[in-house]
Amino acid sequence: MPGYGENRNMNSRIRIAVPKGRLFDKSIEILKKSGIEFAERSERKLSVDATNFPLSMLIVRAKDVITYVEYKACDIGIVGLDLIKEYEPNLLKLADLGFGKCKMVVAEPVNKKQYWRPVKRVATKFPHVAETFFAKTGLPVEIINLYGSIELAPLYGLADQIVDIVDTGRTLKENNLYVVEEIFSSSAQLVANPVLYKINHRSIDEITKRFTVL
Ligand code: PRP
Repeated sequence: MPGYGENRNMNSRIRIAVPKGRLFDKSIEILKKSGIEFAERSERKLSVDATNFPLSMLIVRAKDVITYVEYKACDIGIVGLDLIKEYEPNLLKLADLGFGKCKMVVAEPVNKKQYWRPVKRVATKFPHVAETFFAKTGLPVEIINLYGSIELAPLYGLADQIVDIVDTGRTLKENNLYVVEEIFSSSAQLVANPVLYKINHRSIDEITKRFTVL
């Protein structure tokens, strides 16, 4: 894909896309522990340069990490395996960073209501993951694409089951749902654009090494 990165060269700073949300604090921690220091940043400043390494950090929405790296606006990024499985981007997986562990599951209400429907409905913000999973079971399902608060859907008749990530399990518990089946385990991954990796592999390998020896 064409992008700003076409003009990048070996003298450019490496750019890392760091996700806001559940992986943010641990991403900052791993950067600090790896000895990379950043200039002071106000909360609303969304990019910052490292002071002791040729690296810039861009803070973006979790789903946008893939887009920044695929389009070569960033060389590398930190992204959950859940999003990699959903979008199947053409990126190099450099390392499993071991944090942000969660599970992709099928869940349903403890007190399941029976709705008459020609096919089961499944609500999710991971439609590709859900479709792929149910295709393997051979059961026809209708996927309902939502953007959040997925757990409400089977409680109010929108769907029979959900496919979603479970971290602490609190959201499922507090909404009276239980795990029917686990689909896969997820954790934070360090990924790279394959073309930019070829250009900047020395610096990127150094960052990967620092992240993985912690
Ligand atoms: C995620 C996920 C669950 C919840 C699971 O939602 O979709 O709803 O976290 O976490 P838990 O097992 O620790 O309770 P998120 O917080 O990203 O909010 P959203 O529903 O707005 O997407």
